[in-house]
Amino acid sequence: MELELTDEQRLVQKTAADFARAEVLPKAAEIDQKHRHPKELVARMAELGLLGIAVPEQYGGAGFDTLSYVLAMEEISRACASTGVIMSVNNSLVCDPLVKFGTEAQKQKWLVPLASGKKLGCFALSEPEAGSDAAAQKTIARLVGDEWVINGVKNWITNGPVADVCILFTMNDPAKGHKGITAFILPMDHAGVRCGPADKKLGIRGSQSCQIFLDDVRLSKEHLLGEVGGGFKVAMSTLDGGRIGIASQALGIARAALEDATAYACERRTFGKPIAQHQAIQFKLADMATEIDAARLLTWRAATLKDQGARHTAESSMAKVFASEVANRAAKEAVQIFGGNGYVEDFPVERHFRDAKITEIYEGTSEIQRLVIAASLLKE
Ligand code: CAA
Repeated sequence: MELELTDEQRLVQKTAADFARAEVLPKAAEIDQKHRHPKELVARMAELGLLGIAVPEQYGGAGFDTLSYVLAMEEISRACASTGVIMSVNNSLVCDPLVKFGTEAQKQKWLVPLASGKKLGCFALSEPEAGSDAAAQKTIARLVGDEWVINGVKNWITNGPVADVCILFTMNDPAKGHKGITAFILPMDHAGVRCGPADKKLGIRGSQSCQIFLDDVRLSKEHLLGEVGGGFKVAMSTLDGGRIGIASQALGIARAALEDATAYACERRTFGKPIAQHQAIQFKLADMATEIDAARLLTWRAATLKDQGARHTAESSMAKVFASEVANRAAKEAVQIFGGNGYVEDFPVERHFRDAKITEIYEGTSEIQRLVIAASLLKE
């Protein structure tokens, strides 16, 4: 793995960092406090090519690699984790499976507008009774004549209330378990599709999520993504990439915690000197910085493997579980360094503390990541 970034990767990183600092960061607190979908920032991300970073240019994307995507995700999430996850879902969970499993006609019809940011996507795998146990799907798809008729409920669908297109997972044959799962491309304005109210969340409050109700939704065969019964593999291999995106989001949150805490520690004085001069604070900052670097190396390794076309299931889970736990430790220590000021909305670290938590939950909990890693150790 090259640790030196290419000129192209540095350019993507700088573009994202400049945008994040100038346009995203000044709005992050307001977006959080108002639980507001940052529509204008999504439009700007589309202009900058950040919504389909690793999608080939012929399909509307920016044509960069996964490592470039990771670099950009860290910068955007450093400024605003809500904006980061909107970007991550569109790139990893929507564009990526269309690149990998879509037909040429589907790529032209759906991928081009999604990768260029003219449309926004969501990914509907989870259900009220199927979160970690993704194969326990109940949303049913029955073939009636030439059409698939779909009924069911999807839960916690990030981008759901604002999405134009959904990568939808259904059960076409419950007797077959995970081999009976089928994926579809669903336009969100299709008859029978209804979003519930936006979830009221602890953190990433600018990221809208909701339930999606599917009542006799009729889709033609052109909407099938991959093979009938092949949906579980579409979901799992997509999440292999998605977990790299969430690791990068966690890195961004962790870095925000470290940078904010370092700046505060240099200003805040106790016992006659800045608190940064006390070893108790220095040890915290040193541990945060070391862990963030380690998390970044794991994330870059997973991204590099993906770019090389190698299987990266365990490495993505390692990056995600480690980076998300680093983000939570860093945010907790940042609140401690801020003391009373860390507990109030006037300063950003209480937001980092709330935003960090979700990275240990979505796209597979920390417990699921450990199961995936263990499975790779134990297989023959
Ligand atoms: N790539 C390709 N195929 C894979 C795979 C992968 N990464 N992982 C598993 N498979 C295949 C297996 O090879 C197996 O295939 P065969 O039957 O042909 O051998 C099949 O899938 C079943 O594998 P398992 O027996 O391992 O499946 P399982 O039912 O035990 O589940 C699990 C495994 C890892 C627990 C999985 O259910 C899982 O990842 N759960 C978490 C779900 C999750 O991450 N949900 C997130 C929702 S999306 C979200 O959060 C988005 C958002 O809001 C931002």
